[in-house]
Amino acid sequence: MTDYQAVLDTTLSHIQPLLLSGKVADYIPALAEQKLGQFAMALHTIDGKTYTVGDCQARFTVQSVSKVMTLTMALQRYEDELWQRVGKEPSGTAFNSLTQLEFENGIPRNPFINAGAIVTCDALFSRLGAPIYTMLEQYRRQSGNDKVVINKKVAQSEFEHRFRNAAMAYLMKSFGNFTNEVEEVLWCYFNYCAIEINCAELARTFSYLSNQGYCAQSQQQLLSAKQTKQLNSLLFTSGLYDAAGDFAYRVGMPGKSGVSGTIIAVVPGKFTVAVWSPGLDKFGNSVAGIAALECLSEQLNTAIF
Ligand code: DON
Repeated sequence: MTDYQAVLDTTLSHIQPLLLSGKVADYIPALAEQKLGQFAMALHTIDGKTYTVGDCQARFTVQSVSKVMTLTMALQRYEDELWQRVGKEPSGTAFNSLTQLEFENGIPRNPFINAGAIVTCDALFSRLGAPIYTMLEQYRRQSGNDKVVINKKVAQSEFEHRFRNAAMAYLMKSFGNFTNEVEEVLWCYFNYCAIEINCAELARTFSYLSNQGYCAQSQQQLLSAKQTKQLNSLLFTSGLYDAAGDFAYRVGMPGKSGVSGTIIAVVPGKFTVAVWSPGLDKFGNSVAGIAALECLSEQLNTAIF
């Protein structure tokens, strides 16, 4: 049997020299307050055990990892319609790039770049009576912590600096690919990004991705096994934006990053792992986080290939 705790302990000692590498996200003032040097990692197996290393009490906002849950909830409600409005291809551009959107007629390349997540949010917004509360409740159920909250300071700070995301949303609206009021949907999107969690809770929240769509904490079949396989495939090709190829090569798992310095990764049939370390590379992905997942993958010899 694999000694996951020993693997995590080895991973921590391996990434120590990288803890001060990279820069914290500074394009949102509230995120710029994060400090370099922090690290946490948690691995949740499909038989329900959680292993942790580092500061797993530390709480951080999920940021773009929220895009996975937004897509999951949209897929539950209207799969076919969604794929008319957002593509499935890697973008090869930064997460907040605007250029492709203009010459591809307001249809974002995939649901994980900002434009794709915002349009998915718009789709979900049309179907949910209380979109922010519904999402928060879902995290509470899946994480096993009914006290998970939204960091309102981060949400507000993102909203006040929403210009690029607003530009994307209005551009999509000009192409007829946006239904609701842009500002209302953006507020919802920023609240989703600002859900605050720790690494162990995050690994549990996304455990359904390694367990054929079933979440044991909430006892919900969130997606069918087929949809889960499809979502993992999209994460593999697009979860780390224009660094997805490098991540695939180094780690060999579907993954999703967020600018708080968190990344989730999945080995279907085995585990979901969450890592957090705020120093980011130029693509907006955690330097120590990617190195930790690479180290984990090498030790376990268990990427998806
Ligand atoms: O939309 C934004 O700018 C952020 N709330 C989320 C961006 C993000 O996490 C990109 N991921 N690496």
